[in-house]
Amino acid sequence: MEENVKKLTEFSAIKPTGTLTLGSYLGAIKNWNELCEEYNSIFCVADMHSITIRMDPAVLRRNALEQLAYYIASGLDTEKCILFIQSHVHEHAELSWVLGCYAMFGELSRMTQFKDKSAKNADNINGGLFTYPVLMAADILLYGTDVVPVGEDQRQHVELCRDIANRFNGVYGDVFKLPRAIVPKVGARVMSLTEPEKKMSKSDDNDPGSVMLRDTDDVIMRKFKRAVTDCETCVRFDPENKKGVSNLMTIYSAVTGKSYEEIEREFDGKGYGVFKPAVGEAVCDTVRPIREEANRLLADKAYLESIYADGAAKASRIAARTLSKVYKKVGFIKKA
Ligand code: TYM
Repeated sequence: MEENVKKLTEFSAIKPTGTLTLGSYLGAIKNWNELCEEYNSIFCVADMHSITIRMDPAVLRRNALEQLAYYIASGLDTEKCILFIQSHVHEHAELSWVLGCYAMFGELSRMTQFKDKSAKNADNINGGLFTYPVLMAADILLYGTDVVPVGEDQRQHVELCRDIANRFNGVYGDVFKLPRAIVPKVGARVMSLTEPEKKMSKSDDNDPGSVMLRDTDDVIMRKFKRAVTDCETCVRFDPENKKGVSNLMTIYSAVTGKSYEEIEREFDGKGYGVFKPAVGEAVCDTVRPIREEANRLLADKAYLESIYADGAAKASRIAARTLSKVYKKVGFIKKA
């Protein structure tokens, strides 16, 4: 892809701590695709972000490659987008160090994800977990990013990135563009099918509440048939009182494009026995071609390698320019 100076830039990433879920697809990847035509598009597999929790190295490698395959299988055009693996572009870690000196202890302590993850991993509250949003800010700022398509849970991190950039610009002039998060209207927060008060998460592969993109049709149908609803029988959008049903409606709306009113009419008088499998089938229709294409790509390691090698080369050229500007601004002597 020729970098087009007139176009705005979108950047986003996912950390390969597990296999991709329907939540990551509807909250993020689907939206990346929609912006691809209009924007310079850069996406990475955020492997460096994954090691804030203890990960088996072989599993991390497998997840990272699988994630890249799923990016492509979801429709990202490898001619138009830059797709790369974060650890292949060393500028991410380097800019992260600099930005860390412009991120405040107080603001990092207030990050919801840090608080949640520290509560969940009380025996491993490491420095990486704390400075994670700084690395994320480096990811975004290296590429002169204008927009960051993410799910609702990442909005706070993008806002912090903006604050850090603003603070840095306040000292050194206009070095960084100020990015903003773009969150989808439907699907920004897909909830667990079994515990609809919790976000659908990729951390646990065997979780019956999480639909994985690599799940077979049978597994997807089983998960939807067992999805938690309520003791009424009517399909009505009411996220306060009918969390399970409203979540299923959100998923159905996101994959079919139907509005909540249309969905209510479609299932009027039909009950959950008809509604739940219908959502399952619509999800299978969306996920099946992606899964099949990802499996085909995963059998061709040489092709995937060519994509991430090319992506890292292109990303590095942009990242090196930004980092060198930053180093100069803060007063580091240029390497002879
Ligand atoms: P991660 O890996 O937790 O999630 C990846 C993307 O998927 C979205 N998402 C969801 N959206 C809706 N419903 C859900 N249940 C759901 N689960 C996940 C997330 O909002 C996110 O957009 N720190 C980031 C990864 C990252 C990044 C970046 C993102 C690293 N560097 C730079 C943007 C820009 C993360 O952990 O996302």
